[in-house]
Amino acid sequence: MRCSCADAGNTGVRSFRRSQWATAARDRVRPYANRVVAARLCRHGRNPLADEVRFVRSFNWLGFHFNPFVQVESELLRFVELVCARRPRTIVEIGTARGETAFLLARAAAPDARIVCVDLPAGPFGGVRIPNRTRLWASFAVDQQTVTLLERDSHDPRTAELVRQMVGPIDVLFIDGDHSYEGVAADFRMFVPMVADGGLIALHDIVSGRPEAVGGVPDFWHEVRGEIFDEIVADRNQGGYGFGLLVKGVGARALDNPAGAVD
Ligand SMILES: C[S@@+](CC[C@H](N)C(=O)[O-])C[C@H]1O[C@@H](n2cnc3c(N)ncnc32)[C@H](O)[C@@H]1O
Repeated sequence: MRCSCADAGNTGVRSFRRSQWATAARDRVRPYANRVVAARLCRHGRNPLADEVRFVRSFNWLGFHFNPFVQVESELLRFVELVCARRPRTIVEIGTARGETAFLLARAAAPDARIVCVDLPAGPFGGVRIPNRTRLWASFAVDQQTVTLLERDSHDPRTAELVRQMVGPIDVLFIDGDHSYEGVAADFRMFVPMVADGGLIALHDIVSGRPEAVGGVPDFWHEVRGEIFDEIVADRNQGGYGFGLLVKGVGARALDNPAGAVD
C-alpha cells in the first residue's frame, strides 16, 4: 500500500511528538536514576587497577556511562598505575566530563585522599550536563576519601582560591579542561604553584591531532616540558590523546610568564 504525502506527514508529526515525549520523560527520570547509579557506585569498593579500568569502560547502568572514547585504555592504565605508586593524598583534576579519570584517580589515591574535580557543565572540549553530578562524583570515593566536584570555571581566580582552601598542597594535578592554548596555559599558571614540591603534574592530549580535540595542548606541552619529562603515548600516529608528565621542581622550562615556571 502506498502512503499519501499527508499520511506520511502525520506519521512524522506523531513520531516527532512521541520522541519529544520520551525525551521529556527521560529528563524527568534522570536525576532519580542518577541517585540509584550513585548508590551502585558507592557499593563498588576498591579493586586492582586493571579491573577498575575495565569496569569503568564498560559501565552502563540506568543509562549512565563514563565516556570511554576520551582515553586510550593502555595509556589510562599506565597513568593511574603511576599515580597509584605515589599514593597521593590530594588530587586536583581540571576537566572531568563524565568522570572516567576522576573515578580511576580515586582508586589510585590514598585511603584518606581529598580529590577535587573542576568542570564547567557543557564547557568546551567535551563538556556535559549531568543531573545530580556532584552526588555521583561523591560516590567515587573509597575508604575515607572525599571526592568533590566544583562546577566552576577553572580560569576564575576564585576557583583556584577555593581549591587551595580545600586541599592545600597538591600531590597530583591533572589538567584536561579547556584545551585551547590560552586555556591550558591559564590552568597551568593558576594551579601549578599549588602543587607540592615533588608532586606530579599531568596534561592530557599532548599528541598532535584534530584541533577540535587537542586544541593547543601539544604546542603548549612542547614549550613547557623542558628537558626532564615523561610521556605515556601508545602510538605517536594515533592523533590526539597521550599524557605528558612533569615533576614539580624538576627541570621544566620557564614560560615567558614566570608564574608558569615549574621549578
Ligand atoms: C576532555 S573533557 C575531560 C575528560 C575527562 N578528564 C576524562 O578523561 O574522562 C574536558 C572537560 O573540560 C571542561 N572544561 C572546559 N573548559 C573549562 C573551564 N574553563 N573550566 C572548567 N572546566 C572546563 C569541559 O566542560 C569538559 O568537561
